[in-house]
Amino acid sequence: MTTLPTSENTNDNLINHLQDKKILLGVCGSISAYKSALLVRLLLRQGCEVQVIMTKSASDFITPLTLATLSKKPVLIDFIKNKEGVWNNHVDLGLWADAFIVAPASENTIAKLANGLCDNLLSATYLSARCPVFVAPAMDLDMYQHPSTLRNLEYLKSYGNILIEATHGELASGLIGQGRLEEPENIVAFLNDFFEDYIQKEATREDINTIEEEIYLPLKGKKLTLTAGATREAIDPVRYLSNHSSGKMGYAIATEAQKLGAEVTLISTSTLENPKDVNVVKIGSADEMLLAVEMVFQETDIFIFAAAVADYRPLEVATQKIKKEEGNDKMIIELTKNPDIAATIGAKKQSSQFLVGFALETNNELENAQSKLKKKNLDMIVLNSLQEKGAGFGHDTNKISIIDANQKTDFELKSKTEVAQDILKTIIEKLDLRKNPILEEEVKEEEIKKTVAPKKFEINKEEEF
Ligand code: CTP
Repeated sequence: MTTLPTSENTNDNLINHLQDKKILLGVCGSISAYKSALLVRLLLRQGCEVQVIMTKSASDFITPLTLATLSKKPVLIDFIKNKEGVWNNHVDLGLWADAFIVAPASENTIAKLANGLCDNLLSATYLSARCPVFVAPAMDLDMYQHPSTLRNLEYLKSYGNILIEATHGELASGLIGQGRLEEPENIVAFLNDFFEDYIQKEATREDINTIEEEIYLPLKGKKLTLTAGATREAIDPVRYLSNHSSGKMGYAIATEAQKLGAEVTLISTSTLENPKDVNVVKIGSADEMLLAVEMVFQETDIFIFAAAVADYRPLEVATQKIKKEEGNDKMIIELTKNPDIAATIGAKKQSSQFLVGFALETNNELENAQSKLKKKNLDMIVLNSLQEKGAGFGHDTNKISIIDANQKTDFELKSKTEVAQDILKTIIEKLDLRKNPILEEEVKEEEIKKTVAPKKFEINKEEEF
């Protein structure tokens, strides 16, 4: 147990950590219930909002009216508010509070709390509370020393509740010993200390989270350009040639790459919602796509060509809407080859750049994919097969194999997000980006922090008090 604040550490000279805290105050039947009036006052003075819950027997010692007046809120005693059936929701109360203090906690209530009985609003609210719970007992010295009391208090502590021990002094019975409710100003100081520590630990936890997030951003400092969606090749002002690609796979990769720290440019024809913090360049045709890719060629570290680019486009684009010709049941559109974007970039690839292509095949999958890898000077190709159920156009799932010059790795059918993660993980491994030099300083910093900070934030209540 922690030593309570000294007499100099009164509420007036405390640094207040209780401002705006929502406190549930549970009052039980005890001579010392009168002290709860002072406790309410002091908590309010510290800027707390206080909701009092009483047991029925507590109202024999102090009136609800007194505590309602002081707390500026009706005091809650019963589950049901009135005869119309409006009830006091113990679950809401338990979730509302930042701290639940049971003071004074009688022997009867301690036994109920320790054993999970909930035949009144106070004990039911205790069972619903997610906040720290403080139990401040008050009883006669022999009751306090009784093995059942000691056992129940141990139970309560073992559930993570915080015991504010009764103090020594003259008791209502006239006997002298341990059993007096801790003084209200000490209870407030105790709570204040608790929240001071709590706030500090939360702040440390936030710092660590921020550092950890940054540390594990293996694509930090990398510029990644993605093509996505089906190109649209104009026939006339109102018609175009295209295909079924939705762009979902490319968008999933863009989203995941951004989360891993990459600066992402997405060159897309798709109407999907822009991924967060990704630079989206909207284009329509293969020509426009190539132009946009070439504009970022120099500064890109990793290219992923996920677009379904039309291999051919109409040779001539009519300037007016093409009308039906009477008596002619056929129409011939002459097509010309589109630029191959991946191959164009592959031909002038710099040694520091990494190129990833996609291949959608219906037959001779491996052979075709390997030939594309070579022809387009790619470092890696993601093969997805139309043979697989749930893979390919429009689905939210995909089944891929990743192929490089040396090997082929097959993956299970997964969500496109997971597939995106697998693709990026493979790139990270191939580029050995776990050892990203930009992160080296931060890694060192993290190691230092780890030696001084707890790995996972948890209040060890035993240690605290
Ligand atoms: N690709 C591209 N530009 C094109 C055609 C394809 O950038 N004009 C890219 C795709 O984005 C994909 C890879 O090249 O990453 C392979 O695309 P795919 O359509 O499978 O292959 P093609 O080269 O078009 O060959 P084919 O259609 O004959 O299979």
